[in-house]
Formats: sequence, C-alpha cells, structure tokens
Amino acid sequence: MDSSKVSSGRASSAARTAVVWEALTAELARLAEEFVEPLNIVDAGGGTGGAAVPLARLGHRVTVVDSSPDSLAALERRAAEAGVRVNAVQGDAEGLRELLPEASAHLVLVHNVVEHVDDPLTALRDVVSITQPRGAVSVLATNAVAAVLHRALAGHLADALALLQSNEGRWGPSDPMPRRYTAEQLTALVREAGLEVHELRGVRILGDLLPGRVFEDPQTPDTLLAVEKAASAHAELSRIATQLHVMARRPA
Ligand SMILES: C[S@@+](CC[C@H](N)C(=O)[O-])C[C@H]1O[C@@H](n2cnc3c(N)ncnc32)[C@H](O)[C@@H]1O
Repeated sequence: MDSSKVSSGRASSAARTAVVWEALTAELARLAEEFVEPLNIVDAGGGTGGAAVPLARLGHRVTVVDSSPDSLAALERRAAEAGVRVNAVQGDAEGLRELLPEASAHLVLVHNVVEHVDDPLTALRDVVSITQPRGAVSVLATNAVAAVLHRALAGHLADALALLQSNEGRWGPSDPMPRRYTAEQLTALVREAGLEVHELRGVRILGDLLPGRVFEDPQTPDTLLAVEKAASAHAELSRIATQLHVMARRPA
C-alpha cells in the first residue's frame, strides 16, 4: 500500500483518539469530583474494548454491552493481555434497562453505535435510564455532512447529491453505513432521549480531506494533531468533521 495512505490513516486515527480522549478526560475529572472513584462506566456497543480497556486501566469498573459474541471474546482477550477486568455482557443496546440496574452508571459511552442500531431513540432512552442523575453520556457518530464532502471529493457526485436528499444520511443501497447524522439531528436525538447537551466537538476535521502527498512530510502527523485539537471545538469547522462527538449529561 502507498505509505502516505498508511500515514494518513494513522494520523486520522490518532486525531480521533486524542480529541475524544481530551473530552472524556475532562468529564472523568468532573465525575470523580462529584461521585466516588472508581466510577461505574458502561460502554454500549463497546465492541472489542478499544475504549473500555484503557478506562479499566485507569482503575474504573467497566462493563461492555455488545450484541456480538465475537467482539466480546476479543474484548476479553484484550482485557486479559492488559491485566484488567472488564465485565462483558452480550445484549442489545435497545434493551439496556433490562440488562443493567437503573441509574447505576456514572458514564456511558455510545461510540459509533447510533448509526447501526434499529431504534436509536429507544437505545439512547435506555442509556439514560441506566445513567445516574448528573452522570454523563458520550455519543460519537458519523457526520452526514462530511460524507457529502468525501463522496464529492472522490468524484462520486451522484452519491453526494443522494446524501443531500436523504434524511438518513445515506447515498443509497450500496452505502455500507446504515445511518449518518448532521450535528442538528444528533443533538436533537440526544435531547429527545432526555439528556442535556454539554459540548459538541468535531472529530477528524481536516485530516480526511488532505491529499496523500501532504503525509510525505514527516512533520505532518504532529502538526495535524495540533490542528485537529484546535479545530475540534470550532463552531463552523466542527460541522464538517468526519465524526461528531457529543458530551451530554443526565439532568439532576
Ligand atoms: C462500529 S462498532 C463500534 C465499536 C466501538 N464502540 C468503537 O467505537 O470502536 C459498532 C458496535 O456496535 C455493536 N452493535 C451493533 N448493533 C448493536 C445493538 N443493537 N446492541 C448492542 N450492540 C450493537 C456491534 O457489534 C459493534 O461492536
């Protein structure tokens, strides 16, 4: 594979991790002041534990609920390799309230999941029911606006047009993503579920738009990371990010 593409993929992934972790770290500090550590954290649709294992390494009690037994098996291997315990529960995000006690979690992650579940509002309402009052919910989702830009820049103008005309943020039956959200749609969904939106950030704003040759410069990944962090909270630029990150809170 073209080495500039590999670097661009790594830089994009580093930017995503850095921006989301910055927001999570600030929220964990608030929660630690408000509640007693270790915190109870649930990762709904947490997959193979990319977020759950680092959170468990910080000393928190982490539960992953996921519908895929294969992902949960990989999560258990990853946790064992890291020397931490993560509670793995097979189940549906739309049925969280039947799987976990009410108001038991200080923080719930819903990352890259509301695009995939059949009923995102029911899933988020269940998330709210297992979250403590004043607890936090971190929602990460794919941005429909960025998909328009990316398809157009790749020369797929018909897909860009279809995306603009779709309420689900899809370009048609060949689109592998079941659903995407604009910032307005995502914040409306989060509010309708009963949460207060504390912060909206854009994740991967410029990295995915850069031509591969930019990554031939060894300085690019570091500079890009600084640019992505600075741009993430920018009101206009965040609207074209590949992903949208909402930090929300359950009202007291
Ligand atoms: C794109 S992956 C995201 C994984 C992880 N949250 C992350 O950000 O890397 C989507 C995950 O959601 C899980 N999933 C999809 N539908 C689900 C549902 N209805 N209930 C629970 N998990 C679900 C999948 O098995 C998968 O692990």
